[in-house]
Amino acid sequence: MTDDLATLQAETEAALAAAADLRALDAVRVGTLGKSGALTALLKGLGAVPAEQRKERGAAVNRLKATLEAAIEARRVALDAAALEARLAAERLDVTLPPRPFPPAGAEQGAIHPIARTIEEIVAIFGAMGFALAEGPDIEGDWYNFGALNIPDHHPARQDHDTFYVPAGPDGRRPVLRTHTSPVQIRTMLGQEPPIRVIVPGRTWRADHDATHSPMFHQVEGLVIDRGISLGHLKGCLVDFLRAFFGISDLPVRFRASYFPFTEPSMEVDIGWNRKTGELGKGGDWLEILGSGMVHPRVLANCGIDPREFQGFAFGMGIERITMLKHGIPDLRPFYESDVRWLRHYGTSPLSPATLAEGV
Ligand code: DAH
Repeated sequence: MTDDLATLQAETEAALAAAADLRALDAVRVGTLGKSGALTALLKGLGAVPAEQRKERGAAVNRLKATLEAAIEARRVALDAAALEARLAAERLDVTLPPRPFPPAGAEQGAIHPIARTIEEIVAIFGAMGFALAEGPDIEGDWYNFGALNIPDHHPARQDHDTFYVPAGPDGRRPVLRTHTSPVQIRTMLGQEPPIRVIVPGRTWRADHDATHSPMFHQVEGLVIDRGISLGHLKGCLVDFLRAFFGISDLPVRFRASYFPFTEPSMEVDIGWNRKTGELGKGGDWLEILGSGMVHPRVLANCGIDPREFQGFAFGMGIERITMLKHGIPDLRPFYESDVRWLRHYGTSPLSPATLAEGV
């Protein structure tokens, strides 16, 4: 190899070794093999070489070209690998680290609102009993909210509900802001065949406002439809739920005959407490906590379910009410005021969701 070729090889190899990244490497490539690169100039100069030397010189220049191409490619592979290593090291994520229990300095930690928490707990408990979650619209047809539930037009129960009406649609009937979650019973039975087991938390509305009533509040409805369902199933299910929810394994529960148009027989459910201290579970007083009953055959028939073949039970309760009782919250109004001091006090950490493993 002639001196000029050896020098070019040495210089290029030194430049490649010094190229610290892909950009520097590319500059070396262009300076060597590019249109006006050093090796390209040698190739172009071959025409001026005397004919008797040209063959040998041409072969030597081409060998050098192949050598330098290979050296550039080898350096590119090495720099690519180094760049990937650097990225992997910089972007490493340790998925085994525990979540940060506290917010970064100076930041506020959020909390789960007690209503949302109670809904999570209810869903966890009934979920373990095989109930599915169901939902329905807040603005409801009159038939779903009343008629199909065996509350006809002039039924006195309608007055108890202090209904908010929405302007009438083309059929002349005024839709309502649902006064209870019970219309979702109807939607569920119309939408699926038995067996049915659903739990239905949601917003409800009544024109009522004082320390213990808000025009917007929350209820949870439950519905079970199957063959051979009896009052025994209703009682077992609700006793288990109330004991799990309040965390009192021997909580006294009383079933008291009552009336709802959509159940027959109907029962009010009471739990034992101490009226003076507010303590749940002992004290000899009774506190009404929810409504329940065996689904009225007329309601089943309204939904196309044959009452001679299927039976079921249903229940409904106020979410604010059981939340206030469980946590000793004395006033309903702050539930909707978004006062962060109240939320901080009664809210729950988002990092400890309701699970049955720990007890709700
Ligand atoms: N819908 C009733 C109310 O708002 C509560 C209720 C009672 C629901 C008995 C039921 C039930 O499903 O069976 O007061």
